[in-house]
Amino acid sequence: MSGPGGPVPTPPLLDLPLAHLLQSGGDHRLIVDPATGVSPYRVAPQIRDSVPLGSCTASSPSVTAYRAAEKLLSRLQASSNLASESDRVTSSQRERIQKLFRMPQGSKVILTPSGTDVIYLVSLIALRRSERVHHVIVGASELGGGTVLAAQGKAISDSAPFGSTAVGTPLAGLAERCTAEPVYLRRDDGAQIDEQVVEESVSAAVERVPASSAVVLHLVAHSKTGLRAPSADLCERLSARLGDRLLVLVDGAQGRLAPRDIRRALKLGFPVLVTGSKFYSGPPFSSALLLPETLSSDIGPLPPSLSDWFSSDGFPTSWELTRSSLREQANPGLALRWEAALAEIERYHNVPSRHRAGVYHTFAGAVHEVFGPSEVLEIDVPMPPVHRLVTALGAFPSVFCLRIRGNDGFLRKADLSSLHKLLDTDQGSEHPYLAGRFHLGQPVALGPPETTTSAVLRVALGARLVSDLGSTPDAGGLWLRQMLWALRHKVEHIVKQELF
Ligand SMILES: Cc1ncc(COP(=O)(O)O)c(C=O)c1O
Repeated sequence: MSGPGGPVPTPPLLDLPLAHLLQSGGDHRLIVDPATGVSPYRVAPQIRDSVPLGSCTASSPSVTAYRAAEKLLSRLQASSNLASESDRVTSSQRERIQKLFRMPQGSKVILTPSGTDVIYLVSLIALRRSERVHHVIVGASELGGGTVLAAQGKAISDSAPFGSTAVGTPLAGLAERCTAEPVYLRRDDGAQIDEQVVEESVSAAVERVPASSAVVLHLVAHSKTGLRAPSADLCERLSARLGDRLLVLVDGAQGRLAPRDIRRALKLGFPVLVTGSKFYSGPPFSSALLLPETLSSDIGPLPPSLSDWFSSDGFPTSWELTRSSLREQANPGLALRWEAALAEIERYHNVPSRHRAGVYHTFAGAVHEVFGPSEVLEIDVPMPPVHRLVTALGAFPSVFCLRIRGNDGFLRKADLSSLHKLLDTDQGSEHPYLAGRFHLGQPVALGPPETTTSAVLRVALGARLVSDLGSTPDAGGLWLRQMLWALRHKVEHIVKQELF
C-alpha cells in the first residue's frame, strides 16, 4: 500500500463490510466460522445478543464500540491517501492510550494485533543488548496459548496477519537467537504453589542464564485466573544485579491493572503489555506494547520474517528504521479494533470511580451468593498474592473460576469446552432452563499443560458491564443476580442430564 510519495489508492479491502474488516489483520483466533457466526473465542465481529461474562477471553462489540469502528471506517473510506490517513489515525490512538494510562513523558506505544505477538518485539528489544535472549515465563500455562512459542521466536498461528505460515515455524532472524522456559504457578491438581517457592524458582531460572544472553522476565499482573507473580521486589533486586541484561515485561494483557500501576511499572523501566480486548471489552486483537523512556528509541530494521506480523503504522512515527523495514504500511483491521476498544476504555474511565467500585463489589457478591451453595458449581475463590504493582480496582477480583462437578467427578477441559458452547447457545425450545446465551471465559487447564488434570470455567466482570451498570441505582445488583441464577440453572441442568 505504500507508494513513493504519491497518494495510495484505496484498496478493495476497505470496500468490504465492517464485520469482515474487523476479522482482518490478525490470526486464526479472529476468524469467524460461517456455520456458527462466531470465532474460536465464541465472539462475533458485530453486536451479539449474549450475556457478556467472558471478558477474560474476548468480547463481541457493544453498540458504543461498534459505532466507533463504523465512524472510523467512513473516515478511512473517504480518504484519498490511505497511507497518511491511517498514520494520522494510529498516531492519535497512541496519544489516547498514553493519556488514558497516564504514561510518563517520553514513553512510547506500539500497536500490535495480539498480546502474544508483542513478545516478538520484546525479544528484538532485548537482542539489542546481547546476541541471544532467554525468556523466563512466569505463569506460562495461564497466559496466551502461544506465549512459549512466541518467546522461542516461532510462528504462533498458521495464519499471520499478513501471510500464511505453519504454527511452530521458526521465524528467521529471531528463532535462532531466542529460548524460553516456563515457571508454573500451580500444581497438577490446580493448587497454587507457595509464593516463596515461586520466587525462588524464578530467581534460580534467571540466575542460570549465561552472562552472554539477555533475559526477559515475564511478570504476570493478572493471569487467566487472576494470579500475579513474581513480586516487584524480586524484579527490582534482579534488575539491580543484572542491569541492562534483564528486561522485565509486565504482562498486563488482561487489562486488570490500574493506570497508576502502568505508570509505576514504566517508571521502573519495565515495558508493559496491554490489550483493549480483555477487561476493557474491545474486539479481540487490539493489543499494545508500552515502552518506558529508557527503551523508547527506534529498534531498527525488523527481520523480514516479521513483515508477516506487523505493519509500519503501529510504530511511533519517529521510528523510521523500523517502519521502513516493514512490507505493509497499514493494518486497517487493527486500527478499527483499537478505535472500538478505545471507545470502551474511555467510556469506562468516564464512570465515577465510586460507581465502578459499586459494580465490582456487587458482581463479586452476586457470584458468591448465587454459585456458593451449588452442588454442581464450586467457586475457586481467587487468593492472589498482594502485589505492589497491582492496586486500586486492579487488585479487586473480577475473574471467578468455577469447577464443575459432574456425575463422575470434576469435569476436565474437553467437557468444559462442550459446556462452554452449550451455555452460549439458546436451546430454550428444548427446556426452559436451556434458554439464553451466556458468554463465559474459555475453560483453562490449571497447572503444567502436559500433566494437569484440573480445569475451570470462568465468569468475568468487564469494562462494558461496569459502564452499563455503573449508573443504575443498585449497581446492577438485580439484573446480575437474575442472569447468574439463569446461568446456574442452565449449568446444573446440562450437567445433571449429561447433555455436554
Ligand atoms: C495474562 C495473559 N497474557 C497474554 C495473553 C495473550 O493475549 P492474546 O490473546 O491477545 O494473544 C492472554 C490471553 O488470554 C492472557 O490472559
